[in-house]
Amino acid sequence: MTAPERDPRSQALKLDGVPVATLARRFGTPLYVYSHSTLVANYDRIRQAFAEIDPLIAFSTKSNTNGTILRILLERGAGLDIVSGGELERALRAGADPARIIYAGVGKTREEIAAALNVRILAFNVESPAEAEAINEVASGFGRKAPVAVRVNPDVAADTHHYISTGRKETKFGIPYHDVRRLCRRLARMPHLRLIGVHAHIGSQITQTEPFVKALERVVQLTHQLRRDGLTIDLVNLGGGFGIGYEESTQPIDLEELARRMMPMLRELRAQVIFEPGRSIVGPAGFLLTRVLYIKEAQTKCFAIVDGAMNDLLRPSLYSAYHRILLDGRPGRGRRRVYDVVGPICETGDFLGKDRPFPPLKPDDLLLVCDAGAYGMTMASNYNSRPRPAEVLVRQDKAYLIRHRETIDQIIGCEEIPPFLNGSGAEQRSARSPRKVRA
Ligand SMILES: Cc1ncc(COP(=O)(O)O)c(C=O)c1O
Repeated sequence: MTAPERDPRSQALKLDGVPVATLARRFGTPLYVYSHSTLVANYDRIRQAFAEIDPLIAFSTKSNTNGTILRILLERGAGLDIVSGGELERALRAGADPARIIYAGVGKTREEIAAALNVRILAFNVESPAEAEAINEVASGFGRKAPVAVRVNPDVAADTHHYISTGRKETKFGIPYHDVRRLCRRLARMPHLRLIGVHAHIGSQITQTEPFVKALERVVQLTHQLRRDGLTIDLVNLGGGFGIGYEESTQPIDLEELARRMMPMLRELRAQVIFEPGRSIVGPAGFLLTRVLYIKEAQTKCFAIVDGAMNDLLRPSLYSAYHRILLDGRPGRGRRRVYDVVGPICETGDFLGKDRPFPPLKPDDLLLVCDAGAYGMTMASNYNSRPRPAEVLVRQDKAYLIRHRETIDQIIGCEEIPPFLNGSGAEQRSARSPRKVRA
């Protein structure tokens, strides 16, 4: 089944057999909806493409941290790529085997390092000499050797948004290619580190195979050099970054072609290969369902003001990212109008799509924003004191609530009022308790 499906007569949209109109009625909007069938098909496709070398597919938790999504992937054999103590906690609560967890990120705190060491994760990706020292020091407190892979910055250009290109030498990520051997020799002398591998992640949303092949060539060369230096390299982590087809005109990366080009080098590596895909697994499986509130005719534009906003899905505002937006259930091929689909937030940059042609829209119409499963809910915020959306999983004609809609009490509940303000107003009350209204 491919999501979404459209009824040819009514034009009503369904996700895994569930009409989106039913989801909106039952759970409200804005709403994140995930298609189980698409999620598992995307994971399985990567597995199958590289089946010959049986890689560890460590799902990049940062793209979607929902516990149900993690559990579905863990059940299918995924490992997890994490970047914080919070993600470690989520991974463990979802039942991940620590021996299949990889910890990346340039700013791991000592507390986070200790928590990961404590459960014996598979490896830390080391991003700087200072971080290596910190891991060594924390590990000495455990009387153990911490397993580490050095993140190499292969200086490979990837044709993607510069905010998500990580493999160039100007970025904060990884160790410059020409410094890696020196650092590895230094790491090998640290008594509480065990150097086991190399890691390279060149960026995200890369739809061409060439940058991955180039990066792999550099990693292979480096692996051989490190082995010649007498170091043991058993693990080669090639990161994530497989691009998806956000635009009608963009082809997702051809995974089978990528595997065909990489396989000779991967076979020859004789190491445990790891991939850390996030977007390519969960991106196309997720949708943001939103309702039109108002239509506003301005001088030069027509706006469809919807109840979803940049706080729910930041990608259009942050990266000028394009997401397909589909209208639910409007039969006929009538006249079309062009709209900017915008949210209620007080920012000109608050939009979900610009210059989108639709049949004339009206309040209560439902719009489905596609490919929103990765870096959607995980980047959502409470800007303008908007509670974050609920999340729902659809599977075989059924819908399951997998995260409640946040409440305003939950948002305000984290605040404290300092004592010097208590009693200074007409009424003493904590930030948490709403003012009582007399009937
Ligand atoms: C180190 C690392 N691995 C994996 C990923 C996942 O990338 P993607 O979601 O594009 O597959 C990222 C994303 O930024 C990353 O920084």
